[in-house]
Amino acid sequence: MSERLRLGVNIDHVATIRNARGGDHPDPVRAAEIVAAVGGDGITAHLREDRRHIRDADLKRIQSATDLPLNLEMAATEEMLAIALAHKPHAACIVPEKREERTTEGGLDAAGLHNTLVPIVGRLRDDGIRVSLFIEASERQLEAAHRLGAPVVEFHTGEYAHAGLDGDTEREGRELERIAIMSAAARSLGIEPHAGHGLTYENVRPIAAISELAELNIGHYLVGEAVFVGLEVAVRRMRELMDEARA
Ligand code: PXP
Repeated sequence: MSERLRLGVNIDHVATIRNARGGDHPDPVRAAEIVAAVGGDGITAHLREDRRHIRDADLKRIQSATDLPLNLEMAATEEMLAIALAHKPHAACIVPEKREERTTEGGLDAAGLHNTLVPIVGRLRDDGIRVSLFIEASERQLEAAHRLGAPVVEFHTGEYAHAGLDGDTEREGRELERIAIMSAAARSLGIEPHAGHGLTYENVRPIAAISELAELNIGHYLVGEAVFVGLEVAVRRMRELMDEARA
């Protein structure tokens, strides 16, 4: 299995910079247009409860600006479900969300939240929205995703990325292996595995080399690099590194 690995670009942090001044620049819609122009495969955006980056009005604008599929990251709440059903994004990735966290720390407890997730996953699926669950690469969580009938899981690569930043190559290797094993396990259950969080030019290759993965979602690093080289160059470089890893 070595299909082309898709790159979904998370444009949240373009909106974070915009919101720092409360105006409308830089516009995440312009970022989405650039991603489309340089061959990105999708736009990912997380509408948080506190609207700290993407806002409600951005969703429609992003959807009408490009033909790229929108992957809406959302908490498992009635409010977010109603927004997803109203906007009908291509995919909805259910993520855990805590108000005080700086970013999505850790995966969704799909096993512990089974009863909460059943109606949400069901209603999204009934409306033709592809459901993805952002989980840790563990057997327990993958089995829970399978029981919920999720067609996609996204494995949280945060621990892998942190281990690399800590210079702990043993832990980094263990995390990588865990993601590779669970990606193969997902395929054997008929679930499409994706991965994301904390991926950079430095750490993307071993993850991209996992042949079972269908998609990576990358945001913060690309927006950070864009400050220096422009979003177009940053996305192209990430694409090259992913293609090299798959070659
Ligand atoms: N995938 C999911 C489900 C996320 O919630 C995020 C953002 O937290 C990302 C990917 C992108 O992570 P990053 O911004 O660290 O690249």
